This record gives sequence, C-alpha cells and structure tokens, in this order.
Amino acid sequence: MGYGFNNLKVKKLVETKSWQQLNNHFQKVQKIHLKEFFQDKDRAKNFSIDWQDFLFDFSKNRIDQKTIELFISLAQEINLSDRIASMFNGEKINWTEQRAVNHWALRSDLEKNFLNNSLNNFSVTEAKERLEKIKNFSNKIRQGTHLGASGKKITDIVNIGIGGSDLGPRMIHHALDSYSKKNSLHFISNVDGSQFTRVVKNLNPETTLFIIASKSFTTTETMCNANSAREWLLSHYQNKNNLSHFIDKHFVAISSNVKAAKDFGISADNVFKMWDFVGGRYSIWSSISLSICCCYGFEVFNKFLEGARSADIHFREVPFHKNIPFVMAILSIWYNNFFQWQTQAIFPYSDSLRFFPDYLQQLEMESNGKSVNSLHEKVSYQTGQILWGGAGTDGQHAYFQLLHQGTKKVPCDFISFINPHHFLREHQQQLLSNFLAQTKALAFGINEKTNLHNHFEGNVPSTSILIEKVTPQSLGKLIVFYEHKVFVQGLFWQINSFDQWGVELGKKYAKKILQQIKQKKVETNNENDSSTNLLMKKILF
Ligand code: F6P
Repeated sequence: MGYGFNNLKVKKLVETKSWQQLNNHFQKVQKIHLKEFFQDKDRAKNFSIDWQDFLFDFSKNRIDQKTIELFISLAQEINLSDRIASMFNGEKINWTEQRAVNHWALRSDLEKNFLNNSLNNFSVTEAKERLEKIKNFSNKIRQGTHLGASGKKITDIVNIGIGGSDLGPRMIHHALDSYSKKNSLHFISNVDGSQFTRVVKNLNPETTLFIIASKSFTTTETMCNANSAREWLLSHYQNKNNLSHFIDKHFVAISSNVKAAKDFGISADNVFKMWDFVGGRYSIWSSISLSICCCYGFEVFNKFLEGARSADIHFREVPFHKNIPFVMAILSIWYNNFFQWQTQAIFPYSDSLRFFPDYLQQLEMESNGKSVNSLHEKVSYQTGQILWGGAGTDGQHAYFQLLHQGTKKVPCDFISFINPHHFLREHQQQLLSNFLAQTKALAFGINEKTNLHNHFEGNVPSTSILIEKVTPQSLGKLIVFYEHKVFVQGLFWQINSFDQWGVELGKKYAKKILQQIKQKKVETNNENDSSTNLLMKKILF
C-alpha cells in the first residue's frame, strides 16, 4: 500500500525489505560485546566523523558497517532524500496543520538561497525587516537609549514565556554566561507564583523590561505571568493616567498574534512578529531570541545563525554514512526499535550546557511522541524515545550507578568542549578525564566474576561529541544536528514531527477545572471522576 505526503508514494516502514533485513541483522549484532567490535584497531577511525570544530565519535555503539548500510537501504526504500528535500522546498510537511516547516530558512543565507523568494509564505524582504527590527531594538537597549518610563536605563530583562518560548533562550543564556553582557537576563515560565515572586523580588520596575514571548499569545501560564508583571509595574508607578506610556516603555511582545498583544496593551511597534511556519520548539532562530540579542548583542545572534547554517549545509550535502544527524537518527532507531530500549540520556560534560537536556526534551518528545502515521493509522512500532539527562560530573554521583550496574540499558550522548572560557586548568583536565572515563567504563566494563558486586558488564553504548569551545557558532551547530536527528527519526517512523495535539486535552481540562475551583463547584459536580473531586475538595475546603 502506498504511504506518503506531498504525493510521494512510500512503502510502510515495517513492510520494507530493509526493515526485515535489519531485524535479521539485529539477531546477530545483539550478541556482540563492544569489546569484540574494538578488536578492529581502526574502529574509532571508521566510526567517527571529524567535521569543522566537532569530533563526532560513534564507535562505542553496538553497530557494524552492515548496520549503517542497511539503514541507508531503508532510507532509499522510503525515499528519505526526497522527503528531506520536501522540507527545504517549503512543502506543507506538517500535514495535520497544513503548514510548511520553514524555521531553517531563518538561519539560511537569505540573499543566496531565496533569490526569487520561492518559499511558501516566506518573504526575504520581510525576514530582513524583522531582523533589522530586532537589531535596532536590542542595540537601543544595550546602548541605553531605550529608557524606562521614568527615564532610567534598562538594567534587567525578564523573558516571560514557556516551552519553546522559554527553553531556547534560557539554555543559550546559561551557555553564553562567560560572554560579556550589558544587562541581567531573567526567565519566568512557571505559572507557580513562587517563580514570579522570586524573580521580581530584587528588580526595580523602573529599570526592568518584560518580553512577553508567546507565539499564540493565549498560553495560560504566560498570560497569567504577563498580567502579574503588568500589575507589578503599574502598581509601582501608581499613576492611573497614561498607562500606555508605562507599558510602551516596559513591555514588548514576541508573537504571531499581534491583535492579542495589542489587546494586552502592547503597541504594534513593540511586537516582534513570529512566522506562522515556525513551531515553538524550533523558534530559537526567530525573534524568540530577542532577549539574547538585548543581553549579548545582535552580532552574537548572527554568529549563532551562522553556525546553524553550516550544520544545515552539512545535513543537506554530506552522504548519509558521514552525515551526523542521519547517524544520530539511525542509532536512536536501532536502540529504540530493535533493542527495544525505551530511553536515551544526554550528558553534557559542561556546565554551560546544563539546560541542554531540558531543551532537547521538548525538541524530541514533543516532536516524536506520536503514534499515528500519515495514513491516519496507529503505528505498530515504538516511536519517540524518553529523553533524559543532566550535566556531568554531577550525574556520576547520582544516577550513573544504574547505567553501570542496573538491569536497564540506556544509550547515552556525551557532549564536551576541549577549551574552556575560564583559566582553571585543573578543573578542565578533571572534567575531560571523567568524560573519557565514563564512556570507557560503560562500554568495556570490567570482568570481576568472583565478586559480582564489583562486576561491570559494560556493553552500554554511547556517542561522544567533542567540540573545541562553547561559542555561539558551535551552539548553533549542535542544536541543528539534534533538530535534524529528530526530523530524520520522524521520517523513518512516518509520523508528523511538527504538530503537538497531545498537549491540548490537559489544557482543556485545566480551563474547566479552573472555573470549578473559582466557583467552588465540587459537591454538585458530576463532570469529574471521584479522584479529581476528592483532590479538589482537599484543595478547597
Ligand atoms: O503547549 C505546547 C506549546 O504549544 C509548545 O509547542 C510551545 O512551545 C509552548 O506551548 C508555548 O506556546 P506559545 O509560544 O504559543 O505560548
């Protein structure tokens, strides 16, 4: 039966010849210990990719050359290259929402790539104007020419947003911490008022700028925090006249819903528009990075886009067997669908990337946590992995025990940087020693059959991504590799990686329950189950 989107007829994954062959191949490979693979002295050389300032070493994975070849045949059988091209041709590959997926265009070379403006719903002129607007505004904030309502310079910027409107800038901000900043940057995402209270506690309303970041401008958590911010600011000025002047000076919005932002009180001039075709979790390349520009400068953002652009070129031009996102994707499918391992861990051995696993959780799990294919059928195989992780070396003293000696196998990505931004040589040497030691111990273990408590079976696969230095460019590249990994996974699994219907039901219930809580409507309420009502009574009475 034909399967497809955009008129591409493609076989169903499990009906392909290569999938069957991969199954047979797996029966043999699963019995091979990583120690055996490493009998081949050229293993590391043959299973690594040296690209720009990245060394991507995937040799400690439980695969051989045939595994890669079979995945490449599978890619051919399902027309993977054409389907990748569909995104770059601006086709509506987000088929449940009938939208193109053009976030990559925002980091592309606008002049070169879009000479004739051929992309759906995308105008180069407008893209440039939007960038110019971000540049001008962030320059004004940094130069101290955009002043607060009482004439003082802005010293603190608060980004209010959630999900993709928070995780990207928050992660980048932490990663660039050693770069020079003009302002302090803060983030409010949680609707829990304790976060709002903690953040504004030490801020001066007269020198604070709020960026309300919400593509939809309807997300309840963000709107609740935005309303509190407006109240907090206006109550400080205690001037009921000319409210728009105070909002003009202390609030801007990033949104595609200009009307809602205006209804909130933010003038159209202070709205940084988002494109309809940019999904929240892919929005770091858009005006969502305004807070980063205001803090670190537009040039830094430009470098970030530049790095991202070169990773796009790698993805589009390098053959699959040396293509970093492709290899990342097939490794995850290998473990997810053949070994049937449910999770994957991300361990940045770099405090700078402490929030990277959080960022990737949204990217991977919101994109590929799906179970219906484009024929609107339930898939018969596993899709999106559970992704988790945290910064090394902290994790070694917490959950690494389970990785080394537990009953579960977790394939891991280890990410580290060779040259730090600090001068603490001893720290860096220790950090990198641990980075190397862990992947070695996980892969090869140690044979201690006389005392099983000291026995390490090893054979835990990992990929090491070693990068020269944390820079805006290298961050851009790293994010793009994971983005395309997720894209390729979704293409293999034949799901839509670009919608997120799964978040809706909880939102709908929360709205109803909020009304019930406000009206204290528990006794007469037949809408809920007894557990929900029991809990609600405890909250209310
Ligand atoms: O509810 C999920 C989600 O829509 C994410 O996809 C998105 O990043 C987040 O909420 C925030 O959405 P918005 O930017 O519209 O407030």
